[in-house]
Amino acid sequence: MSVVAIIGSGLIGRAWALVFARAGWQVKMYDISAELLAGLPEKLQEESQILVRHKLAENADTLLNAIAYSNDLQEALSGADFVQENGPERLDAKIDIFAELDRLVPLDVPIASSTSSIVASLFSEQLAGRERVLIGHPVNPPHLVPLVEVCGASWTKEAVLIKAYDIYASIGQVPVRVHKEIDGFVLNRLQGALLAEALKLVGEGIISVEDLDKTVKDGLGLRWAFMGPFETIELNAPEGAEDYFSRYGPVFAKMAKTPAGADVFDKGWTQKITENWEGRLPASDIAGRSNWRNERLAALTYHKNEQDKN
Ligand SMILES: NC(=O)c1ccc[n+]([C@@H]2O[C@H](COP(=O)([O-])OP(=O)(O)OC[C@H]3O[C@@H](n4cnc5c(N)ncnc54)[C@H](O)[C@@H]3O)[C@@H](O)[C@H]2O)c1
Repeated sequence: MSVVAIIGSGLIGRAWALVFARAGWQVKMYDISAELLAGLPEKLQEESQILVRHKLAENADTLLNAIAYSNDLQEALSGADFVQENGPERLDAKIDIFAELDRLVPLDVPIASSTSSIVASLFSEQLAGRERVLIGHPVNPPHLVPLVEVCGASWTKEAVLIKAYDIYASIGQVPVRVHKEIDGFVLNRLQGALLAEALKLVGEGIISVEDLDKTVKDGLGLRWAFMGPFETIELNAPEGAEDYFSRYGPVFAKMAKTPAGADVFDKGWTQKITENWEGRLPASDIAGRSNWRNERLAALTYHKNEQDKN
C-alpha cells in the first residue's frame, strides 16, 4: 500500500488526507498543533460522511481507518512514498519546513507543496535534494474540486514532475502542468483577474455585490463547471474560435485598455465594498455555510462523474 505524509493538517491538509485515503493510500498526518490534531477525527468524520452521502466514497470508516495522526515529524514521514506539505502561506515558514523535510525524507521521494502563490525556487534553492521539490497546488477543498497545478523550479527533475502528475491522476485528481514559475500559478491569476474586475465594477457603483455574484453563478459559472473559456468561445460564434475573435476581439481589446489595476485591492476600496454588502454572512455562520458549499460541490461532482461515464 502506498503511503503519503501530509505535513500541516489545516483546511487543505485534511482535505488531501481524504483524497489519498479514498484512493486506497495509507495517510500519515502531521501538524505542529496538538490541539488541531486532536480535533481532526471529528472533522474528517463529517467530511467523509458528505462523500458517502453523495456516493463519492463507499464507506466513511474505511477512509478514517486509513488515516493516522502524529505530532512527531520523523514518525509521520517514515515510509512515505510521497509528501504533501500544507503549512502556513509564508515564505519563512516554507523555508523552515522544507529544510526539515529535505533532511528527513529520502532523495527518491517527491515533496510537493500546496502553496497557492510561492514558487518552489524561493524555498528550495539551498536544499541538497532540491530536484525532488515541486508545487502541487490544489483548489479548496481538494476532495471535492480535483484540479492540481503541477509546477517545478528550474532544477526540479522532469521525472519527479511526471511522477507527481501520475500520482495525482491515479488518486482521482485532475493535474495540469504549469511549465514556468509565475506568481499565483494559473488558477489564481485567473481568479485574481476576475476578482479585480469585480471589485472595480462594484466599487464604481456599476453593479451590486449580489448581482455581480449572480452574474457568475447564474451566468458564466454554469458553463464553466464543464467547459473552459476556450471551449466556451468555440461555441459562441458559428465558425468557432477564430470567428469569435474576429467578431468580438475588438470589443475585448477596448475593455483591456482600462484594466482594473492593483488599487482595487487597497483596504479603503475593499472595505467600502464589504461594509455595504447587504446580506453578508456573520463570521459565526462561515463554518456552516462551508458545509453547505461542500454538500453542493459533492452533488455537482457526482453529476459530473456520471455524465463523464456516459
Ligand atoms: N485555503 C485555501 O483556499 C488554499 C487553497 C489552495 C492551497 N492552499 C495552500 O495550502 C497551504 C495551507 O493552507 P490552509 O488553508 O490549509 O491553512 P491552515 O491555516 O488551515 O493550515 C495550516 C496548518 O499548518 C500548521 N503548521 C504551522 N506551522 C507548521 C509547521 N512548521 N509544520 C507543520 N505544520 C505547521 C498549522 O498548525 C495549521 O494547521 C498554504 O500554503 C495555502 O496557500 C490554500
